Amino acid sequence: MIGTRRSPRQLLEGEGTIEAVGHLARDLGHRALLVSDPIIAEQPGFATIVAALEASGLEVERFVDAVSDVPLEVVDRCLARAREVDPELIVAVGGGTVIDLAKVVAVLVTHGGDPRDYYGENLVPGPVLPLIAIPTTAGTGSEVTTVSVLSDPDRELKVGVSSVHMVPAFAICDPELTYSCPPSVTAFAGIDAVCHAVEAYTATTRDVGWREAVEGVLIGKNDLADQHALRAMAALGPNLARAVEDGGDREARAAVMRGATDAGVAFGHAGTAAPHALQYPIGAGTKTPHGLGVGLFLPYVLTANRPIIDEQLAELAACLDLAGSDPAEAFVEWVVELDARIGVPASLQEIGVARDELRHYAELASTVTRLLQNDPGDTSVEGLERVLHAAWEGDRELLR
Ligand SMILES: NC(=O)c1ccc[n+]([C@@H]2O[C@H](COP(=O)([O-])OP(=O)(O)OC[C@H]3O[C@@H](n4cnc5c(N)ncnc54)[C@H](O)[C@@H]3O)[C@@H](O)[C@H]2O)c1
Ligand SMILES: [Fe+2]
Repeated sequence: MIGTRRSPRQLLEGEGTIEAVGHLARDLGHRALLVSDPIIAEQPGFATIVAALEASGLEVERFVDAVSDVPLEVVDRCLARAREVDPELIVAVGGGTVIDLAKVVAVLVTHGGDPRDYYGENLVPGPVLPLIAIPTTAGTGSEVTTVSVLSDPDRELKVGVSSVHMVPAFAICDPELTYSCPPSVTAFAGIDAVCHAVEAYTATTRDVGWREAVEGVLIGKNDLADQHALRAMAALGPNLARAVEDGGDREARAAVMRGATDAGVAFGHAGTAAPHALQYPIGAGTKTPHGLGVGLFLPYVLTANRPIIDEQLAELAACLDLAGSDPAEAFVEWVVELDARIGVPASLQEIGVARDELRHYAELASTVTRLLQNDPGDTSVEGLERVLHAAWEGDRELLR
């Protein structure tokens, strides 16, 4: 079995690590474009980052108008700002939205062209402007992955640009930045991380050679990714609900951030699977957050994929010390209870999906072959429609 790992040159984690940003940035250049969004730009941590950069002698220019889910017109505006500033590095301070925006702008400012030229895997011809990724949510793992997810108004699904050249140069994961996340942001980002770990760990093992590991981006389940997925589950499992219920619980906040980054390393190599493929059209159609959709689908897909993945589910259950005669089922039930506790809806009806739209959503999701090839279950249009139907009814029993 082949394994591979691509990661930032240096990843710092822990409280107070944002103070290091000036020191790291100095290695990359003198003129920085700081990318963020209007909410984060008002937080005290943002001012600390600007001060640390300036204290290290950096010239700091800003683009703080990121918009959730990275619409293409915002990519254009951020790119125009980057061309004006001509930075030597980009510093992204924000959730997945901000980091993904900065990643694609780093590609465009270096290699030119249009985002559409890079949709898909490994179409970026070489290294890009270096990026320091500083997450303010604990969830997407974008600070360690090759991926940027964009919203193109001409497409019904979100699109991904993915290249080994897009891994940030440095990542600073300081849990203090997440203290200001409201409960819903903590919940949806955190459940996204749970899905990353579980989907990577239950993915199919593919017979890839070194060429695919070098030229491709996602290679299916492998030992290296598995270690990160298990560490992620052990950190997220006991702590996510705690962090949602008490945003001031520093221990829980730190564990969830560590778990999210580990889950990012896991899925950044193994890949995600059907819950993510199904979220793409549902998220676009219902305008609901990414984490809400993947979290909603996870228990249904796991139920549909039993018993093929029972062994992996039992290993995940062991990570959480879940006992019982059917540990695989105990794990799925744990996900159902976590969803309920942190406010992830249990059915598609609750988020306004109509029964007669399910076939169309199944057809759209079936085109996300990059992710579906990782799923061990039935990913035909009929198989996906069956999962959508059970998720619409809110009834896992329909999948047995
Ligand atoms: N690149 C990847 O590997 C990857 C993986 C998964 C998801 N994604 C993408 O990431 C995006 C979702 O990212 P996200 O879940 O981090 O949410 P987000 O970045 O869209 O942020 C959600 C909301 O929370 C606010 N927010 C962020 N940090 C805050 C803080 N510390 N305090 C207060 N408010 C804060 C933001 O301003 C925004 O309003 C989606 O576009 C998704 O497709 C990317
Ligand atoms: Fe995700």
